[in-house]
Amino acid sequence: MRPQTPLWDALQKHIISGLYPFHVPGHKSGRGLPTSYVNSLINYDLTELSGLDNLYDPSGPIARAQELTAQLFGVAATLFTTNGSTAGLIAAVLACCPSGGTIILPRNAHVSLLHACVLGDLSPVFVDVEIDPYTEIPLGLTPEQLSIVLESSGADAVVAVYPTYHGVCGDIRGIGEVCRQAGIRLIVDEAHGTHLYLNPSGPVSSLCTEASVVVQSTHKTGLALTGAAWVHIKDQSLVQRVKASLRLVQSTSPSYLLLSSLDITRAIMEEEGPRLMRRALAAADKLASILPLYKPPWPYRSDPLRLVINARQLGISGQYLAARFLAHGVAAEMFDLYSVTLVLSLADDEDSVAGLTAAFQQIERQPTGPPLAPVCPPLGQQVMTPRQAHFSPKRSCKLEQSKGFIAAEAVTTYPPGIPVVWPGQIITTEILEYLASRRALGAEFSGISAQGEVLVRAEVEND
Ligand SMILES: Cc1ncc(COP(=O)(O)O)c(C=O)c1O
Repeated sequence: MRPQTPLWDALQKHIISGLYPFHVPGHKSGRGLPTSYVNSLINYDLTELSGLDNLYDPSGPIARAQELTAQLFGVAATLFTTNGSTAGLIAAVLACCPSGGTIILPRNAHVSLLHACVLGDLSPVFVDVEIDPYTEIPLGLTPEQLSIVLESSGADAVVAVYPTYHGVCGDIRGIGEVCRQAGIRLIVDEAHGTHLYLNPSGPVSSLCTEASVVVQSTHKTGLALTGAAWVHIKDQSLVQRVKASLRLVQSTSPSYLLLSSLDITRAIMEEEGPRLMRRALAAADKLASILPLYKPPWPYRSDPLRLVINARQLGISGQYLAARFLAHGVAAEMFDLYSVTLVLSLADDEDSVAGLTAAFQQIERQPTGPPLAPVCPPLGQQVMTPRQAHFSPKRSCKLEQSKGFIAAEAVTTYPPGIPVVWPGQIITTEILEYLASRRALGAEFSGISAQGEVLVRAEVEND
């Protein structure tokens, strides 16, 4: 009997299904990358051999590739990472905050920022960003909200998510200005916005703002391989600190496949970026005239390459719509109760989206309509730091009996990787009601076991 290869089997099954990827990675099964590169990819799986430099302390071709990227984006330095924006954000936060410091985070912060808080022993101060009650889509941080929180927080840095997973963009210039006036560093999680700077008609890239560090998942809407990201540092005085922090969260054997894909993506963006962007925008425009796209209830633009279909407006659930898309050969990036999110990238054109139009036209409506469920409630009170909770004694507790306990681990949905509960927070009735309603509708959460248990802080003698 041949040895089992469950993951390889699953990948082969997926590939055979021939679905068109309206999801990341943005190279779209290699369409956006040079054929000569894709065809000999395996040969580039090398390591720190003579002449190939060393990501830990680069001085040869990796250093040069990083310099060329910094020049293209007009920043003081760009650092490559093969551990995604996850590593880039952790490094940026650790570079901008002292150990034991305070960081302002939007409610919809990615879970990597939790990891940064654990590593840096940081206290998060949350800004409860508005959630659209009709679609449950989180909007962004506003300069006004930030000003209020900044006044009393004593924070060392601010993180903004721009654009959000759903492509919502906000007043990032205004946020930068608030940070500048307060003399506080702004880190922008632009994981979903590598392509933004190529679009002169906006929304703008946060590279044009007062941000100190901008982190982009080049593998999401750029053309790099999964896990490849870059960290743009605008403030020269931070470069060595971000470098040192990045070393803490990178393998000493970074993948040359990923590193080379960053170099190639930069070269393509430099040479052909504006043309590829125009081509992708034309495809997006075509789809926008057919699909009922979500428009956030606020005055800011959204990313035109992030197509969020408002399933609720069609009288169906996001889950149903995504399943019908799959049946018609289209794989979406993400669905939730009321919407389906599709990713267009620099590799897409009008031909690649033709199948989506045809698929959408064939989708039958559901007579029952989408179920109604409570929207994500505010976070519970943070009574200890994420690090204290992470290292405290823990015990399992049935979810429905966990009210009032301190969470010892995050409860998160993937995608989009936004925690509903952070370690160190009190679990509230509203959160339990929300989780129960979503689980009843089939949603899965990391941090809730198959037995329906969460980890809470165990009571200790001195409590
Ligand atoms: C808003 C946001 N930030 C950061 C990340 C982490 O990015 P990466 O997958 O490159 O580590 C993600 C991942 O989905 C994300 O959605």
